[in-house]
Amino acid sequence: MRSWRTLLAILAAAVTAVTMSPAPAAADPVGPFVVGGSRAALGEFPFMVRLSMGCGGALYSPTLVLTAGHCVSGTGTNTSITATFGAIDLQSTSRVTRRSNYVYRAPGYNSTGDDWALIRLASPVSGANIGTLPIVTSTAYDSGTFTIAGWGANRENGAQQRYLLKATVPFVSDTTCNSASMYAGRVNAAREICAGFTAGGVDTCQGDSGGPMFRQGASGWVQVGIVSWGDGCARPNKPGVYTQVSYFSAAIRSAATSLGG
Ligand code: ARG
Repeated sequence: MRSWRTLLAILAAAVTAVTMSPAPAAADPVGPFVVGGSRAALGEFPFMVRLSMGCGGALYSPTLVLTAGHCVSGTGTNTSITATFGAIDLQSTSRVTRRSNYVYRAPGYNSTGDDWALIRLASPVSGANIGTLPIVTSTAYDSGTFTIAGWGANRENGAQQRYLLKATVPFVSDTTCNSASMYAGRVNAAREICAGFTAGGVDTCQGDSGGPMFRQGASGWVQVGIVSWGDGCARPNKPGVYTQVSYFSAAIRSAATSLGG
């Protein structure tokens, strides 16, 4: 009796929490719902990484995690970051962790751009449900429908998530994203790429930063963006703004090479 009432209360709370979400999330009876998303399955996105400072990342190679510049403090030796792999549940006993030993932050990083960094792991990572995500090397995939995923907040000012959430968002052109009703020229058209719905409802949010935005390429997932910033989360006319990986791909590759892989 009591547990049944508790279950009803949890269901009611879950329904309330997604009232501002679009149909796909509202139709999901499990919840909670990245904003407006649903739960990812184990192994669905084997490149997803959770970082201990509260950011996301993507496994670029067995020893390197690609994340956002604003998730790290700078370039140099850094043994303070713990990265978690191979799990959708951050408390899973089968999760795999590694410590960092070095961080490389984009040389041009500042609070308004070049928002990327590579974190080197103390030892290579591999195993069940762990794999790398190739980055795009041209603008060929900088349009269409993108997938976003992360353990960040499921609504503006919401809590970090225990289970990985995912959602899909459409590309928003630079012209539209920089229009008066959106970011009014605040987006760096060459170096950033926008994605989201004009009506809002689906977006990355705080704690998703550094995680990948990706889509299907010629043979599987390819990384197109890095979660960077937005005005609030999932607000109408405020798409998510992502580091445009195609612009930085040569710099990322050469940094990765100099870091040893
Ligand atoms: N800067 C945020 C972070 O540190 C990510 C913000 C993404 N915001 C958005 N509306 N898409 O986690």
